[in-house]
Amino acid sequence: MKQIQAELLVRESVAPTRIINFSGTLDGVEHHNAIICGDCLEVMRAMPAGSVNLVITSPPYNLLNSTGNGLKKNTRCGKWVNAAIKDGYRQYGDNMPYADYVAWQRACVAEMLRLLTPDGAIFYNNKNRVQAGLLQDRREILAGFPLRQIITWKRSGAINFNAGYFLPVTEQIYLLCGKNFRLSPGANKFTDVWEIKQEMKNPHPAPYPEALIDRILQSAPGAVVLDPFGGSGTTAVCARRHGRQFILIEQSPAYCEMARQRIDGEQWRNAA
Ligand SMILES: C[S@@+](CC[C@H](N)C(=O)[O-])C[C@H]1O[C@@H](n2cnc3c(N)ncnc32)[C@H](O)[C@@H]1O
Repeated sequence: MKQIQAELLVRESVAPTRIINFSGTLDGVEHHNAIICGDCLEVMRAMPAGSVNLVITSPPYNLLNSTGNGLKKNTRCGKWVNAAIKDGYRQYGDNMPYADYVAWQRACVAEMLRLLTPDGAIFYNNKNRVQAGLLQDRREILAGFPLRQIITWKRSGAINFNAGYFLPVTEQIYLLCGKNFRLSPGANKFTDVWEIKQEMKNPHPAPYPEALIDRILQSAPGAVVLDPFGGSGTTAVCARRHGRQFILIEQSPAYCEMARQRIDGEQWRNAA
């Protein structure tokens, strides 16, 4: 009952979520509790250093850059025929040469670190892959950065069957920290293995499950939460539920609109 009352109070006081079309600068633009439509590297470079407490994000995994046949666009072979991600994202092909992908992601993580307060943390989700028969270990992206821990996210299943290796059912959540970061009291009991089902009902091709973001927000303090690969807005929806401010960046106008609708409807769904 108390939770419903609190959510109704939030509902009365919250303005509709704005979508800001990024035009090269954020000077004088209030961008808290907003979705910024643009390229996340350009947008982050326009944000002031030390202005966010928590980054929660899942970039594209470069899945269409595949040495197997399972995820190549327009193929009918492999086990991914019905997977939405097979067609990539609305405005992003998810198919870079691996070295370019690593360099791009390193540039993004470096910007996230610049934006972070010394007591802040980044929860960066990615996924190891096997390509040409060898492990692509995503720690390559994070070499030299302040990596404190790797949380294993165990999903309930997977679809990339391959006779050459065991079916991968885990992803990694890399915890990169400012030197003063501490978990919320008692959160260390969650351990470093999180068993959380993947999201099945969201029409975005690769959404986070809300339970995963809720776990992160229960674990880590921080008033301002950034997701530079915002997608359908799961991070923002959960941030608002936990009384945090959010900054969402997403380059596809269609996903920005999807996120906007979802953020503005979410609090009522929980209160119902
Ligand atoms: C794995 S999805 C994130 C999904 C999100 N966590 C959710 O719950 O819906 C990655 C997102 O990054 C977006 N994206 C790709 N390149 C981008 C860029 N350069 N700048 C901003 N967003 C980008 C894609 O359009 C896609 O929506």
